[in-house]
Amino acid sequence: MQFNKASFIYFSATGTTRRIVRAVKNTLPVGKTDYNLLRKPVEQEVQVESDNLMVVAMPVYNGRIPALAAESLRRMRGQGTPAIAIVVYGNREYDDALLEVKTMLEEQGFFVLGAAAFIARHSIFPEVANERPDADDLAQVSAFTKACVKKLADLQSAEGYKAPDVRGNIPFMPLKTVPMKPSSGDDCDFCGICEKICPVQAITIDGDEITTDPDRCISCGACISVCPIETRQYRGADYEKFRGKFIARFGTRRENETYL
Ligand SMILES: Cc1cc2nc3c(=O)[nH]c(=O)nc-3n(C[C@H](O)[C@H](O)[C@H](O)COP(=O)(O)O)c2cc1C
Repeated sequence: MQFNKASFIYFSATGTTRRIVRAVKNTLPVGKTDYNLLRKPVEQEVQVESDNLMVVAMPVYNGRIPALAAESLRRMRGQGTPAIAIVVYGNREYDDALLEVKTMLEEQGFFVLGAAAFIARHSIFPEVANERPDADDLAQVSAFTKACVKKLADLQSAEGYKAPDVRGNIPFMPLKTVPMKPSSGDDCDFCGICEKICPVQAITIDGDEITTDPDRCISCGACISVCPIETRQYRGADYEKFRGKFIARFGTRRENETYL
């Protein structure tokens, strides 16, 4: 089987998932369509024709994919379209996230050539997996992509195709949020960049006051990534205490996992 185009759907608040996506893109010599969910959610159903290759890349949030990203992913419809499922996680564990992506794809008319869980800097505790993805990780992303393409080329038809088994459990673990929410320091100059990037409109700037709605905030860290003066941070005694424990427990390097 052949493909003539590739469609990418991904959510990347702090840029590591986007780096993995870029490595996949650089390996695929075809025209590309991009659904960058930090910029714009998918609001209408999208038909992805069978001559496309659908690539899904999502960060792991509490063992699942972010709920707002799942909402957009649910609107993609395949027509016996081949797909690649990728999750990116911060060296703790990806739990049910990869199986969640694979299951959604299969329920929505795609067949999954390959699935992978890649490791990247933890966006809440950036000391964990700080330098990742590194050059070796990106070479693995490229090799995995090539293997998926070869698998598709070797396939006569999607009928009777058996996708690889991936680690994870059904029912999926419940959706959870984390209590840590970013805030701005006294040196905030109310430039508004964080307010604009926030995918859930949790930040409000009113004159020289900036507030973060803790019920809306999903702790994704997009606001921290774009802050030009680095005053946007996770803060507080609880965060510092948890951070030390987290680094001690999950600081040891893990390796990527691919399923073909
Ligand atoms: C709210 C939240 C929950 C997270 N939960 C997990 C997790 O369960 N396991 C893990 O290993 N990493 C977890 N991470 C880390 C991210 O999966 C990781 O940093 C990922 O690379 C972020 O992608 P991005 O740079 O594209 O935003 C979490 C991050 C956030 C913000």
